[in-house]
Amino acid sequence: MKFFVDTADVAEIKDLAASGLLDGVTTNPSLIMKSGRPMLEVIQEICAIVPGPVSAETVATEHKKMLEEGRKLAKLARNVAVKVPLTPDGLKTCKALASEGTMVNVTLCFSAAQALLAAKAGATFVSPFVGRLDDIGQDGMHLIGEIMTIYRQYPHFKTEVLVASVRHTQHVVQAAKMGAHVATVPPNVLRQCFKHVLTDNGLKAFLDDWAKTGQSIL
Ligand code: E4P
Repeated sequence: MKFFVDTADVAEIKDLAASGLLDGVTTNPSLIMKSGRPMLEVIQEICAIVPGPVSAETVATEHKKMLEEGRKLAKLARNVAVKVPLTPDGLKTCKALASEGTMVNVTLCFSAAQALLAAKAGATFVSPFVGRLDDIGQDGMHLIGEIMTIYRQYPHFKTEVLVASVRHTQHVVQAAKMGAHVATVPPNVLRQCFKHVLTDNGLKAFLDDWAKTGQSIL
C-alpha cells in the first residue's frame, strides 16, 4: 500500500519525505488555508520534494472553469494530480483531463455508486472519506471494502482506491488488509504508525545492557 501524507505544510512534508516512506501528498483548500501560503507556490514546492503524485484541488463547481483550473494546476509540475469533486461537473472534468494524460483524483466520495462512476470517468484515484463517514455514525471502512469488491470485478478499471480522511492507525491497518492501493494520512497519524510502547521499552533495555558490556561496535 502506498502512503501519501495529507497536508500542505512543506516543513512536515520535508521531514516525512526524509524517512523514505512517502509515496505522494494530498492537499485540499482547507489545508492550503491552514498553511497560510499561496496555493500555486506551495504545490510547486511540494512537487519538487516528493516525486510521487501531489494532489491539488480545483475550486470551480462548473465544468468549463474547473477544466481551466485543472489544466493550470497540471502545468505546475509533471507529478500534479488534479483533484475534482464527485459531482456531474467534476466527473466530466475528470474524463477530459484524463484524456489529456493528466492524473485525476476524484475527491469527496461517500458511496460505492459514486466510486463506480469515478472509475468509469477514468480517475487515477478515487478518495473515499472514511473519517467523515465515521463522524456521522456510518462505517467508513465498510465503504472501502465495498469499493474494493466492485473494482476487483472489473480488472480493466485502473482507478486506485485512496483511503482519505484517515483519523487513526487502525484506519491504515484496515485499509491495508482490504488491499486498498493508497492511504493518505495526516502527519501525526503517520508518526503514530512507528510507535509501540514495547519497541521503546525494548530498545531502552537493550541499550542499558549494551552499556554494561563496555563494548562499542565502531
Ligand atoms: C483527502 O484528500 C482529504 O484532503 C482529506 O483526507 C480530508 O480529511 P478530513 O476529513 O480530516 O478533513
